[in-house]
Amino acid sequence: MSIVRDSFHSRIGFVLAAAGSAIGLGNIWGFPTQAANNGGGAFLFVYLIVTVLLALPALYAEVYIGNQAQKNPVSALGDACKGVSENLGRKVGLIGLCGAIMMLSFYTIVAGWMLAHALSSLAYLFDASEIASWLSTSSIQRNLMFTPIFILLGAGIIHQGVNAGIEKWSARLMPVLLIMLIGLIIYILNQPGAEEGLKVYLIPDFSQVTDPKLVISAMGQAFFSLSIGVGGMMVYGSYMQKGKDIGKLVLSITALDTVIAFLAGLLIIPALFVAQAAGQEVFQGGHLIGEGQLIFNILPELFNSMGHVGLFVSFAFFSLLSIAALTSTISSTEVPVSYLMEDKTFSRPKATWLVSAIVFCASMLLIIFFDHLFGLVIRVLTTILQPLSCLFYFIVVGWMWNRGNKLRDKALQEGRKWLTLWGNYIRFVCPLLLSIVFVNVAILN
Ligand code: PFF
Repeated sequence: MSIVRDSFHSRIGFVLAAAGSAIGLGNIWGFPTQAANNGGGAFLFVYLIVTVLLALPALYAEVYIGNQAQKNPVSALGDACKGVSENLGRKVGLIGLCGAIMMLSFYTIVAGWMLAHALSSLAYLFDASEIASWLSTSSIQRNLMFTPIFILLGAGIIHQGVNAGIEKWSARLMPVLLIMLIGLIIYILNQPGAEEGLKVYLIPDFSQVTDPKLVISAMGQAFFSLSIGVGGMMVYGSYMQKGKDIGKLVLSITALDTVIAFLAGLLIIPALFVAQAAGQEVFQGGHLIGEGQLIFNILPELFNSMGHVGLFVSFAFFSLLSIAALTSTISSTEVPVSYLMEDKTFSRPKATWLVSAIVFCASMLLIIFFDHLFGLVIRVLTTILQPLSCLFYFIVVGWMWNRGNKLRDKALQEGRKWLTLWGNYIRFVCPLLLSIVFVNVAILN
């Protein structure tokens, strides 16, 4: 039985949904934390280079595979590898699908913390200080309550389908996020101490930029930030009409994602220095004191020091993070949902609830065995699974697709030289660059 596939109604719908997927906790929490820990400007500099050289082509390859196949990631990769081994392609698709579940298992926990902190500021505003302090204190009970709430929120949107749910909500939520971020930056930059943070963030120390550890962190961050390597962007690419000019769209998504990460750094790094100027201990030996403290201790204390206004700022900030996390959660969930609908003929609601139940079980495992599993799952996903999937996408697009080179064929048909160049870049240079980074990861580990 063939099913009629859902689709985005417009190019801008695709760009907003894909940007919604890309822009998330990775940009607003991960990027500034990594930048603060890795010399500020030096990290920003390397991150920009890695984004252009590797993450952008990987995003192109992922969206391209989905768009050409017009199928869910498992079938899309199966189709793409037909000339060599359809089975291998489908297996890699299924590994990506597991990656999406892994991502959701820890992401919904952290997103739950954000939601709890937003509600905590609200509770303080209404003088419910006992509830507020429970909400802002880390506990297993809080995790057990807020992770499922977040999973349900995501399921509620996904359940409505591609156009009514994903496209409409991303278009509504993304501009709110940008406005909130800019408002907070203006506020922070006017506080004492912010100037020092601005210098650290914007002036790179070039002696640090060749440090392999920094390059590996920047690459992992760039892949995670652009949501590459688990099939989320592939499935969104498949919901777009075939043959649209993907290059331009991918460029806009990368630009939006990078601008938001840059702006988040512009907010958080000066905020750290504002906190330091106010007498808080923020750094020890050039590193942040405990990564978790950045948002969950230092920033709330900073907001507190602003008095009543601080509660509004805090509410805005954590709401912003929750919104960003929600649109990212949606794209990851859509990977297994689309697979179950198309390959296993599930209805959308049934697929959504089944996936949500699996994510619920996985995140509960992480909550219960937090100390053992939480960091491990993040590391395996971002430093092994995502980069390996990207290597596979490069090989598929560059070498394996019907044993030919689709990009080159297209270039020959259209007589466009730059496409031939782009094809060769994906075919030869990208796998080589990625392999070099892998060798370094292996050596450093
Ligand atoms: N890009 C998201 C972020 O930066 O928070 C995380 C993410 C979303 C990763 C969706 C993977 C994915 F499929």
